[in-house]
Amino acid sequence: MDTLGRVKQIALDAGKLLLDMEKDKQVFSKESRDDRHDIVTSVDLAVEKFICEKLRDDFPNYQAFTEETDFSDVTSEYFWAIDPIDGTKNFAAGIPFVGISIGLMHECVPILGVILNPYTNELYYAESGRGAFRNSERLHVSDAEKLSDAMIVIEGKNILAKRREYPGRFSADARTIRNFGAATLNLAFLAEGRVQAYIDEDLKYYDIAAGTVILQEAGGRITNVRNESIFPREPGFEDIDVVASNGLIHDLLIEYISQG
Ligand code: IPD
Ligand code: CA
Ligand code: CA
Repeated sequence: MDTLGRVKQIALDAGKLLLDMEKDKQVFSKESRDDRHDIVTSVDLAVEKFICEKLRDDFPNYQAFTEETDFSDVTSEYFWAIDPIDGTKNFAAGIPFVGISIGLMHECVPILGVILNPYTNELYYAESGRGAFRNSERLHVSDAEKLSDAMIVIEGKNILAKRREYPGRFSADARTIRNFGAATLNLAFLAEGRVQAYIDEDLKYYDIAAGTVILQEAGGRITNVRNESIFPREPGFEDIDVVASNGLIHDLLIEYISQG
């Protein structure tokens, strides 16, 4: 099996593990630098361990940078960026909107991405230069060119704390705004044209690694709020601000955001 086939299978098996363990999950509060209400569950930890072990068996030379285990000393040319459960607060609350996300980085650029929603069995994947897919269907971003045709996902606890005014302006001018609670699936929704944009100001490396290649292969664009490329980027735990779109409305989004 090729690398993508293997990673897809590992994500699907991880999804089964998540569903098997869900009923008996334990929720712990987690000390995190930027969220005093952060939590982690026993399932996040088990799913991460499972994915890392499977990847290590098949790709012994690739290190991993993950949310829960903190392998911050990644030096290999190829490495994995893993979020075992993206949308932990949804998961803990029983809301079936979570992504299992595995990205493969080469020289700090995402080149392969797999995201699974284990509740819907929607498996999103892409490899650089080979297109993006949901299950076996080819994905394309939406062709909306106007804000009035755009559903915009705006997340990030700190956007309000930073006193940003742009969510209000988008609320007035876009079709609507949404906040679903899982960055990986927001990017997948964008890749398949369900939404037209996603803005967040405090994402982490593993939130966007897989989704970036899926979105780009579907024709979308992802930058920071200054319209600069996010990758190549050394793995780390600092916040990353993200503007992701179908490409067509990207400059307009940046213009709105730059007004504060
Ligand atoms: C969170 C989700 C959420 C985003 C947060 C992330 P987690 O990831 O992706 O949508 O707005 O910034 O931390 O903690 O559930 O893996
Ligand atoms: Ca996450
Ligand atoms: Ca997570």
